[in-house]
Amino acid sequence: LDKKELLYEGKAKELYETDDPDILWVNYKNQATAGNGAKKETITGKGKLNNQITSVLFEKLKEKGINSHFIKQLSETEQLIQKVEMFSLEVVIRNVAAGSFSKRLGVEEGKQLSFPVLEFYLKEDALNDPILNDDHVRVLKLATDNEVLEIKKKAMEINQVLIELFEKMNIRLVDFKLEFGKTNDGSIVLADEISPDTCRLWDLDTNDRLDKDVFRKDLGDIIPLYQEVLNRLNQL
Ligand code: C5P
Repeated sequence: LDKKELLYEGKAKELYETDDPDILWVNYKNQATAGNGAKKETITGKGKLNNQITSVLFEKLKEKGINSHFIKQLSETEQLIQKVEMFSLEVVIRNVAAGSFSKRLGVEEGKQLSFPVLEFYLKEDALNDPILNDDHVRVLKLATDNEVLEIKKKAMEINQVLIELFEKMNIRLVDFKLEFGKTNDGSIVLADEISPDTCRLWDLDTNDRLDKDVFRKDLGDIIPLYQEVLNRLNQL
């Protein structure tokens, strides 16, 4: 398989076409952004950590019957994925109050929620990724009724698998963001990445942050933290 033209460059990844029309080649970049690109830095080693963490997590999810676009890891920073039609949605699942939820609703950070809360956001930088309810999703035709139901069901299943997995790593899965895509045959699969860039991960004993909040809030170097997440994953 050969890498062809750059198809799309995002904040954290580059997507290339390949000579197979159904397969894309991803390169994880070292760029870190926060506040919709307001804060931007190159952090050497971030790309390879997120590529490895995402690859392991997508493998683990597959073992539990959850399909994703992931095909295989190619190198430290690269992977092959199935080409899918992405929903312009970000799906956030929250187990513990934090971040924008705490800020918007006045709930103390760290408060365990009585059930996992699912939120949709519009993937649109120009609008600052606004939060959406189900009617917004439907009226904007971002997904059909059935697709909304299926995405919610899958997201909740993924949450259960990930909560258990991270618990074994002595990590509390506070919240995380997922993206989904549609394959040629119309089936919905998990896509994008799952990494410390897209999850809030707190050490179960110390509450130490092992995720991108450390970059967002200028609390220190994220590389040792992401490495710690990968080490714990590899010890499972
Ligand atoms: O900022 P907020 O509290 O809404 O983020 C919820 C979760 O979604 C966090 O784990 C964050 O890392 C993730 N997220 C993301 N990409 C975004 C927005 C949020 O990965 N564009």
